[in-house]
Amino acid sequence: MVILGIETSHDDSSLAILKEGKIIKNIIFSQINIHAKYGGTIPEIASREHVNNIALILEEIKKEIDLSEIDMIAYTKEPGLIGSLQIGFLFANALSTILNKPLIPVNHLNGHFFSGAIDQEISYPSLGLLVSGGHTQILYANSPFDIKVIGETLDDAVGEAYDKVARKLHLSFPGGPIIDKIYFDNLKNNINADEIKISIPKTEGKYDFSLSGIKTQVINLINTYENKKQKVPTEKIAIKFQEIVIKYLIEKFKLAIEEFNPNSIVLAGGVSANKYLREKFKLIHKNAIIPKMEYCTDNGAMIAKASEIMLKNKKTL
Ligand code: KG4
Ligand code: ZN
Repeated sequence: MVILGIETSHDDSSLAILKEGKIIKNIIFSQINIHAKYGGTIPEIASREHVNNIALILEEIKKEIDLSEIDMIAYTKEPGLIGSLQIGFLFANALSTILNKPLIPVNHLNGHFFSGAIDQEISYPSLGLLVSGGHTQILYANSPFDIKVIGETLDDAVGEAYDKVARKLHLSFPGGPIIDKIYFDNLKNNINADEIKISIPKTEGKYDFSLSGIKTQVINLINTYENKKQKVPTEKIAIKFQEIVIKYLIEKFKLAIEEFNPNSIVLAGGVSANKYLREKFKLIHKNAIIPKMEYCTDNGAMIAKASEIMLKNKKTL
């Protein structure tokens, strides 16, 4: 069985091949350098880039397999940028028509969760922490087909908060990896960030988050330095921001582990590339599944994998 996975929901264009249960190719063309100039993703540009990139990636895929070997075509249906999703769908649909092979729509968030199943089995019930530029959710998966959102952000997503804080600190886009690097570089240098005070927001729902609550405190703090014409302590603010955000995610997730007593926990989404979060996540459960870096940000492999799991049980994700 050969599945082609297609992901175009945001600003990564990706195609992957899953052959007999193994990912044999996962090609990702990131558009970050193009959007970085604007400080964020420009949907119109993202759609145009997907058109160019998919044609180039398909040429690479053809070096790996003959397209006639493909048995199924899986693509990200939603959620995402509408124009970008449509490019993926049109490409998937055209290929499905030409090859006369079935087309499988996959939910992007389920795709992220199943990135944890690419290299290992997820044992159920499982709890997932999905952290990306667009989503922050705690998922309870009783089985692969019974996944519920038990908590989520009430405002900004974690990645979005990272990107907005980074922009305010005049760092480049996307801000997550830069703040993560500043955190580790400065820990080595023993910089003490205790003078930066940020508190953890309260939410009504036990498993809900307010990332905007943290972001706003940081932005107000930076404004205070600027208004007083004082030098903004960029490194200290970045360190403290990362410390507080990761602590917040981990503490909430630990509450869910206590209540649901899962057999495994899965970390997913672009922010799961965060080194500090990965370190902490490993420590909170004996069966903590953390995808390889290439499966953390948006990728076709997770879409192919999700469709395979879905088909084994003839369900729709
Ligand atoms: O899942 P993703 O590739 O795209 C969607 O949002 O669907 O996630 C992108 C987000 C960006 O906000 C980026 O800043 C964040 O993931 N990110 C990180 C790190 N690497 C990427 N955030 C924190 N630390 C990182 N190392
Ligand atoms: Zn994503």
